[in-house]
Amino acid sequence: MSWRPSLSSLILLLLLTFSCSLSAAAQTQPVDAEGHQWWQHAVFYEIYPRSFADSNNDGVGDLNGISSKMSYLHELGVDAIWITPCFPSPQVDFGYDVADYRNIDPMYGNLADFDHMVAEGRKHHVRIILDFVPNHTSDQHPWFQDSRSSRTAEHRDWYIWRDGKAAGQPPNNWISIFGGSAWTLDPATNQFYYHFFYAQQPDLNWRNPAVEKVMLDGTRWWYQRGVSGFRLDAVDTLFEDPQLRDNPVLDGTNKQGDPNMQNKNNTNFPEVHEVLRKLRKVADESDAVLIGETWTANVDELDRYYGQGGNELQMPMDFMFTTVNKLSPPEFRRQIAAVDGAHGWPVFVISNHDIVRSYNRYGDGKNNDAIAKLMGAFYLTLRGTPIMYYGEEIGMENNDPTRKQDVKDPIGRTGWPQEKGRDGERTPMQWNTTPNAGFSQKDPWLPPPPSFQTHNVATESKDPNSVLNLYKKVLALRHTNPALLEGTYTALNQDDPNVMSYLRAYKGKALLVALNMSATPQKIVFNLAPQGFASATLKTLIASPKASFNRNEVTLLPFGLLIAEVKQ
Ligand code: NOJ
Repeated sequence: MSWRPSLSSLILLLLLTFSCSLSAAAQTQPVDAEGHQWWQHAVFYEIYPRSFADSNNDGVGDLNGISSKMSYLHELGVDAIWITPCFPSPQVDFGYDVADYRNIDPMYGNLADFDHMVAEGRKHHVRIILDFVPNHTSDQHPWFQDSRSSRTAEHRDWYIWRDGKAAGQPPNNWISIFGGSAWTLDPATNQFYYHFFYAQQPDLNWRNPAVEKVMLDGTRWWYQRGVSGFRLDAVDTLFEDPQLRDNPVLDGTNKQGDPNMQNKNNTNFPEVHEVLRKLRKVADESDAVLIGETWTANVDELDRYYGQGGNELQMPMDFMFTTVNKLSPPEFRRQIAAVDGAHGWPVFVISNHDIVRSYNRYGDGKNNDAIAKLMGAFYLTLRGTPIMYYGEEIGMENNDPTRKQDVKDPIGRTGWPQEKGRDGERTPMQWNTTPNAGFSQKDPWLPPPPSFQTHNVATESKDPNSVLNLYKKVLALRHTNPALLEGTYTALNQDDPNVMSYLRAYKGKALLVALNMSATPQKIVFNLAPQGFASATLKTLIASPKASFNRNEVTLLPFGLLIAEVKQ
């Protein structure tokens, strides 16, 4: 006897399916008592895949290398890794020139290696975040190859093509951020195409619905493959003025020798936010997180990236924090207060693959390890999600090229010697004291700095006072202490020019963080009565070097740090 569903059984089936999918969604979106989601309690860690771990000893890192380090990452206290682009690419901009959005560059492995990495990540509670490059593709992408082939090609309008102003003259004065005009004349069709970055990175035309569709579908494809989110590259550059008006020219020239320019007519168009809302809708289908590369000039701009009611990026990165380049408590306080007052969850970063490592930016050349620990204890205890950069936890320093012929990053060659490029902050992870810092048995694509002999995972693991062990302690506390996970942030002693101190409080319990950002010992007196801790005493949880206190008076050694429990 065959079973034929009646209308009522079909409706029942539909209802059941609907309620099951609702409960599946509810299960995948756990929110804690404070309404916080997984990414608000997670610690993120950026990996530059060329430089993290080389499993096949060809001098360039790969996905199997990353998989082999999952237990290291978990033990360190990392919950999610953001891998910079690992898709097929001619590597002009080391992966930020994507030639296929749905595959892995053979240099890094293949899709099976990717699946293995996701599985290893799951085993070790490490989620995978990929880097999505929506603004441009590689000029080798089949879409661009077709686009440039004729003025009537199917993909012609997927990119931005225009006639020149006059013979051989670009359509307007826009400058590529990597040097020279932002327009390149393509002889095949005698029109210019637009590129905010290198000429090998033509900008996609996001006003074409077909582009929007294929890009949104591309993110969904990776979510279905186990990715927990994306870092979105260069989001402010997605749209340009359709009338292509010239940009205002400012005084002086930049490191590439081009006139300084205000990118008024080719960045920050309101349509960007429409795209972000659409990307977010797709992300929400999979409980995924969107992190933004959001270079903003002020908190209002940053605020807009969260969207109305939080419907755009969950995690726009606060780069204004990285522009505080000296150990200045007043400037840090100002910056944190601004971001704390924005309408979203703060995201703190102190280093990445485009900026000089924090070890060099904050280090004074004598106390760099103490300062590296201080900075770790600082941004890992703020209210918000931190994104670490690989190697920061061992005090890795920049290793800038000293000769033009050694430079790999193209902007370092065209801008030499004012601009040395970004090779210095992209050198191989330092695992141990063996040749090439244990990264590869073959000479790596970039050399590690000589300091790898002392600053590496193996050596620092054995030293209780190392930068690595300080990071581990702070990260362990961050994962378990309710005041750090859920608590408010209150700046203390706001007139103090030397010591950055604050209270993280939650449900009548609190932690005090005090960081001496000066080279002399500092004595500070705390009055925690306004915060409801009138007769509190302190109990050290983490200090480096030792801090001493007498009731509410704390003495910190030069660049000393203290994280203490406030006991009523
Ligand atoms: C920002 C990336 O972080 C950088 O490395 C890259 O060169 C540009 N976007 C272009 O994609």
